[in-house]
Amino acid sequence: MSGASNLKGLILSGGKGTRLRPITYTSAKQLVPVANTPVLFFGIRSMVEAGISEIGIIIAPETGGEIREAVGDGSQFGAQVTFIEQDSPAGLAHAVLTAEPFLGSDPFVMYLGDNLLQGGIKGLVDRFSADSPDALILLTEVDDPQSFGIVELEDGKVARLVEKPKEPKSNLALVGVYLFTAQIHDAARAIEPSPRGELEITDAIQHLVNTGQTVLSEVVEGWWKDTGKLADMLEANRLVLDTLHGSNRGTLIDSEVEGRVVVAEGAVLERAVVRGPAVIGEGARIVDAYIGPYTAIGEGCVVDHAELENSILLDGSSISHMDSRVEGSLIGRGAKVERGPKMPSAIRLLIGDSSHVRLP
Ligand code: TTP
Repeated sequence: MSGASNLKGLILSGGKGTRLRPITYTSAKQLVPVANTPVLFFGIRSMVEAGISEIGIIIAPETGGEIREAVGDGSQFGAQVTFIEQDSPAGLAHAVLTAEPFLGSDPFVMYLGDNLLQGGIKGLVDRFSADSPDALILLTEVDDPQSFGIVELEDGKVARLVEKPKEPKSNLALVGVYLFTAQIHDAARAIEPSPRGELEITDAIQHLVNTGQTVLSEVVEGWWKDTGKLADMLEANRLVLDTLHGSNRGTLIDSEVEGRVVVAEGAVLERAVVRGPAVIGEGARIVDAYIGPYTAIGEGCVVDHAELENSILLDGSSISHMDSRVEGSLIGRGAKVERGPKMPSAIRLLIGDSSHVRLP
């Protein structure tokens, strides 16, 4: 039975994160902040909002430690969190099998830890409880179906799932949230690794369809974002910042703040202009600087003699003495961007009559 009462949560926060290197060489992409909150926390919160408090989090050996530290036992979210180490990033269906001892025979919501779903999952959980399918998957219309896992429907039911089809028959892409009964474990055991060497969740779901299980789908309302690469991470940051309410708990000295801006405690703005939506983290220092829309500045960052827009600065990073505006950037923890001393540059010319030379 798929009643919400025994529904568990499974959040996938392992993986390779190759598309977000070099950030992912040293830290988990699921902890990269969107509007100064780690992406992963949005997933945990939406589970709790949907009444799910028993949550397993898949972690990788390399980045699991900092995820454990950030999430703790889950009590900060009103959840009980169990960490499950996946020895290698062998695919989403492999992650499900790794979590089998935790999940047992209970139905569960699986949520990709680097995904953001604006409308939360409460509506989905309610539908899963009401209709009792073997799986309920979430879809969204995309413009470039060749880049996604695509689902073909027949009579409203899921008929086929195709990973990155060359000739797509539908534009409905799989979103990173799935509801499953325990049937998915047998399906994950029945499939073989794909050409890229992973046990694919699309293959496991296709196996459910092929063996006559009911797989329902729902088209997502509101926006959905996979933050696995830089452009999407910045877009997620913009979308979340757009929902912000301004507040000021910092110190403004000869500074101007326009629009919705959150200035956290201990932040100091000195001769700065900040145009929202933007968030300035605890203890950050913004001096002789311009912070433009859609910028999230982490704790203890410094922006000094610089202009910055549409960017994310992770905790403790700094940008100083820039000649050009910094845009569309993601700056890692403790990273420093600064202009070096200007070298005297020489120009040597032999110019004919009536020439016109314009130098920068
Ligand atoms: P992906 O972003 O599809 O894969 P990835 O993390 O390996 O990244 P990349 O493609 O850039 O190399 O994974 C979606 C989510 O699932 C993400 O939060 C990581 C997680 N995941 C696991 O926990 N275990 C796995 O075996 C895989 C493949 C992903």
